[in-house]
Amino acid sequence: MTGIVERYDIPEQLFWLRGTRSGPPVEYDSATGLWNVYGYQEAHQILGDPATFSSDTMRVVPKGVIPEDEFSLEGFITQLDPPEHGKLRKLVSSAFTRKVVADLEPRIAAITHELLDAARERGGLELVTDLAYPLPVIVIAELLGVPAGDRALFKRWADALFQRDAKISLNEPSEARKQEMQATLKPWKEMSAYLADHAEERRRQPRADLLTRLVEAEVDGERLPARQVVNFAIVLLLAGHITTTMLLGNTVLCLDAFPEQQEKVRADRTLVPAAIEESLRLFTPFAALGRSTMREAELGGVTIPADKLVMVWLGAANRDPRQFPDPDAFSPGRDPNPHLAFGRGIHFCLGAPLARLEGRVAMNILLDRFDPLRVDPADPVKFIPTPTMAGVRRLSLA
Ligand code: HEM
Repeated sequence: MTGIVERYDIPEQLFWLRGTRSGPPVEYDSATGLWNVYGYQEAHQILGDPATFSSDTMRVVPKGVIPEDEFSLEGFITQLDPPEHGKLRKLVSSAFTRKVVADLEPRIAAITHELLDAARERGGLELVTDLAYPLPVIVIAELLGVPAGDRALFKRWADALFQRDAKISLNEPSEARKQEMQATLKPWKEMSAYLADHAEERRRQPRADLLTRLVEAEVDGERLPARQVVNFAIVLLLAGHITTTMLLGNTVLCLDAFPEQQEKVRADRTLVPAAIEESLRLFTPFAALGRSTMREAELGGVTIPADKLVMVWLGAANRDPRQFPDPDAFSPGRDPNPHLAFGRGIHFCLGAPLARLEGRVAMNILLDRFDPLRVDPADPVKFIPTPTMAGVRRLSLA
């Protein structure tokens, strides 16, 4: 991507963010034991075929690669296949509705202004600390009904789980890596216990919040088991903040790198949603998803054997030149823009309406309050080092 790579010093491990890939759409990596999928059509095919490409990735990870019950991913919505997935999805969707999300718009605007006012008083704005991180965390905490004041705790848990620079691999981990993984056990357990306490309290004393809706949600006379309420609350708490944090930082980067597009969007605010979609395509926050093959599969001219771990590189698929002309350009006018940043098929992101709403409200307010919206060239942008994520962890505005 001309300009962006040099301008923001994008780390080597975010290879797909450094420009369009040339090379085959599907590749086996003997060093890690993974089948990497980079092509758009191939990624599209995988996500639409859960019978061949299961979301249960733990079934093919050899024992020892992840410490015993490190993440207890069992029963997590993102790991389930049909029919279990459909049942859980129906239950949680009945609590996390579009109306619940749409009603949040005024509150999102109020929090954004409060956070920006506080930063102005301190003098200067570091986007991540001052807005992009706290905004979605406060929103998801208020929605769930857990104290937003505990957000230092949530940040500690999320950082322990996500800010790793290790490459994903099926090889036996080194001692240092094992210790690093063990170190994440504690925050994971703390987070589960914290949410279990809050859920238990809602069973005793219902309130007008999402946790109460989750403990009370019923499909065909069945309620969610306590463990699944906690697991779903974990997914919301984690997915509910790091991703939108990345989306906001990335969209500011795109508007900074392409000033002529910023002018267009500033002049015609109906383009803000399209700018957000294009930012999701170009800087895909969750850059890779895992799947496991239930049987031998033909894909992109190669045969993937059964019981293999497949990494679907959404970030690379979203810049496949066979699908997106001029893929390294930020073009909010791209229409259609069938990017895969929210996944596709049965697991399509349940939080997409919330992420889009937060993005639209916050970007409009940023454009109102900063003209032009510019990254401070004196304070280099820093990226999250995790290879499967694209997002900044530091971005100062000029
Ligand atoms: C699923 C991306 C924001 C909740 C997904 C998936 C992707 C994704 C790619 C599919 C996973 C798979 O197929 O394995 C994103 C991005 C976001 C975002 C890029 C922001 C820019 C959110 C938010 C929430 C959320 C704000 C909740 C508050 C979920 C849930 C699922 C999911 C619950 C699982 C759905 C299922 O398995 O049926 N997300 N997400 N996401 N996302 Fe998001």
